[in-house]
Amino acid sequence: MTDAPFFAPRLTAADQAGTVPDLTTAPPIGWGILGAGKIAASFARGIGERTPMHVAAVGSRTEDKAAAFASENAPGATAHGSYEALCEDPNVDVVYVATPHPFHLDGALMAIAAGKHLLVEKPLTPRRSDSERLINAARDAGVFLMEAVWTRFLPHIAAMRGVIARGEIGQVTSIEADFNYSRPFNPEHRMWNMDLAGGALLDLGIYPIQLAHDLLGVPDEFLVRGTKAPTGADDHVAMLARWDSGQDALLHTSLRAAGPVAARITGTEGRIEIPEQFHGPSNMIVYPNNADPWTFYTPQGEGKVYEAAEVARLIAAGATESPRHTWQDTLEIAALLDDARAQVGVVYPGEE
Ligand SMILES: NC(=O)c1ccc[n+]([C@@H]2O[C@H](COP(=O)([O-])OP(=O)(O)OC[C@H]3O[C@@H](n4cnc5c(N)ncnc54)[C@H](OP(=O)(O)O)[C@@H]3O)[C@@H](O)[C@H]2O)c1
Repeated sequence: MTDAPFFAPRLTAADQAGTVPDLTTAPPIGWGILGAGKIAASFARGIGERTPMHVAAVGSRTEDKAAAFASENAPGATAHGSYEALCEDPNVDVVYVATPHPFHLDGALMAIAAGKHLLVEKPLTPRRSDSERLINAARDAGVFLMEAVWTRFLPHIAAMRGVIARGEIGQVTSIEADFNYSRPFNPEHRMWNMDLAGGALLDLGIYPIQLAHDLLGVPDEFLVRGTKAPTGADDHVAMLARWDSGQDALLHTSLRAAGPVAARITGTEGRIEIPEQFHGPSNMIVYPNNADPWTFYTPQGEGKVYEAAEVARLIAAGATESPRHTWQDTLEIAALLDDARAQVGVVYPGEE
């Protein structure tokens, strides 16, 4: 272990503990789910199974779908046949926007108009300018708003920050992170459909980018190269980020490479590996230079509940943003995503 100060400008002494608050301490607020889709289902089940919070209501564009979602994932929740009705529901304290990216803005603005607090799926919106508009609306209304970058609230990420903050791998020198998966091309699916802001970067690439940003902040250089699917969505992207202080990050995201979804943080005196699904609940292995490797075993179960519990605690405390994933963080990551898309030549409808 080194006496030199660790180099990871976004870590503080408070990170040394490397732990997250107990889920059972989350205030028992009522969630409203906006969009009865795939990710909303796992979120709703997790709230019920792992926390004292509850899903008060679900809003879908069709009432039948809302009712089916509630009975399957959130028994007892009110089923609304429109997003408007969900936002007006007095039992809803906070709205979770879980629609495809281009619809986040309208759904969130609707909730803000109804005076609701918000957790909005990542990316907050497909472009920085719209994210800034949404943040300004939340600020003006005095409601809580956070982009659902759940990774930042997970136990193994807190443990990773603890290892670095305690100097156990020395100075951070480099980060490697990949979020790749291979699926058959489907031009209708939101991953490739330009009307749904498809592409690897906004859906998957945001995770490696936010990891590098979480430790080292905004890079001084950002070189991005990639290819596009026939729809025009980015489907295979390599990124090299560099900081003038001498650190670098090699990041990759792909819709046509069969993995990995892994991260490695190397320092002057050791390294940390998160071998699979680094963005979700995952084990972490620490390889110190002069000691035996050891593993942090992450608790199993739905991981989005950690961010949800954080939102509940902050709302109860009267906060409007999270210190762990601030509005400024969202805008800095959005600017990197805009830049990466521009370097690959990805242009969404309406942006020409
Ligand atoms: N945190 C994570 O691990 C994670 C994982 C996957 C996705 N996500 C994020 O979550 C968001 C939703 O992803 P998902 O995979 O859950 O999406 P999805 O299942 O394809 O769609 C979610 C829901 O959005 C609603 N919707 C509203 N307008 C729509 C339209 N024009 N076309 C299609 N659906 C529309 C639909 O709900 P109704 O029919 O009920 O109105 C749909 O069921 C994305 O922004 C994504 O980035 C996060």
